[in-house]
Amino acid sequence: MPTVHPTVATESRGRRRLLALAACLLALPASLMSARAQEGAPKPPPVLPSMQGETIVVAGATGRTGKEVVKLLLAQGAKVRGFSRKVDEARTAMPGVEWVAADVRDAKSVQGIAKGADRMVIALGSNSFRDPANKPEEVDDAGVARLAAEARAAGLKHVVLVSSAGVTRPPQGEERFAKLMNAVMTSKLRGEDALRKGGVPYTVLRPVGLWDKPAGQLGIALVPGDPPISAMIARADVAAVAVQALVDPGARNKTVMILNVAQPQVDAWKSAFAAVPGP
Ligand SMILES: NC(=O)c1ccc[n+]([C@@H]2O[C@H](COP(=O)([O-])OP(=O)(O)OC[C@H]3O[C@@H](n4cnc5c(N)ncnc54)[C@H](OP(=O)(O)O)[C@@H]3O)[C@@H](O)[C@H]2O)c1
Repeated sequence: MPTVHPTVATESRGRRRLLALAACLLALPASLMSARAQEGAPKPPPVLPSMQGETIVVAGATGRTGKEVVKLLLAQGAKVRGFSRKVDEARTAMPGVEWVAADVRDAKSVQGIAKGADRMVIALGSNSFRDPANKPEEVDDAGVARLAAEARAAGLKHVVLVSSAGVTRPPQGEERFAKLMNAVMTSKLRGEDALRKGGVPYTVLRPVGLWDKPAGQLGIALVPGDPPISAMIARADVAAVAVQALVDPGARNKTVMILNVAQPQVDAWKSAFAAVPGP
């Protein structure tokens, strides 16, 4: 089965991707899926500590995945500290968040960003196709490393990084797209490494292609490593996994690919983190 790089997926290709997903799931070896996601009767979800009253830093809070993370955190009674390069717009669009003007490429602007906070979600995207000055090397690599250092300095309890499937298989080639995707994937892997070595409990999520569908329509498989799977996941589902990973002891120091799968019990993934192998 040919593999299409997940980050190139767009919603206009949704039908084709759904067919690819169906084909892929038929071919997906059971050993790749977390054990619980495969079973008919999953364990009940773990009882997790409350984040009520805690402060959670969200990097990329104005982004399509980040916004979903913010909604879930506020609904749980957590306080959210977001930062943006366009902080006035962010303040107007998303009240109820403590906004800070910051750019991860500028070390000074993120200095102290996690002070007094409890946990952090990083859902940054360099989007350098649209904005070539926002280089993946400076955002997904150095920017994430900077945030990992800030998390450590502030003694955060946990950091969740939304990375990408395919980081261990950067595309090769001389044409503009391959070069840019190579830079994105290489930088994301370096950012992941910085977090893994950063000394703060972490979860690295590697979503496959993202699209904007409602949460909870399909199940979610947690797949160890970075196998070449062509599939999609709703941003809102990525957000739900990220928020659970902030407090789920089973998610501690795990790196996991996530994708939507057809499953009778769509929330079976909630009990699946503990079965994912550790670092
Ligand atoms: N697209 C896909 O199919 C796909 C697949 C797998 C993984 N991913 C990854 O999933 C993550 C979330 O993607 P998404 O599409 O939800 O994101 P998105 O909507 O593109 O949002 C990107 C966010 O990053 C922030 N950002 C970018 N550069 C920044 C900088 N220099 N300083 C501070 N903030 C910065 C933006 O904030 P401001 O503009 O407000 O500053 C925005 O909140 C990304 O890491 C992406 O690479 C994407």
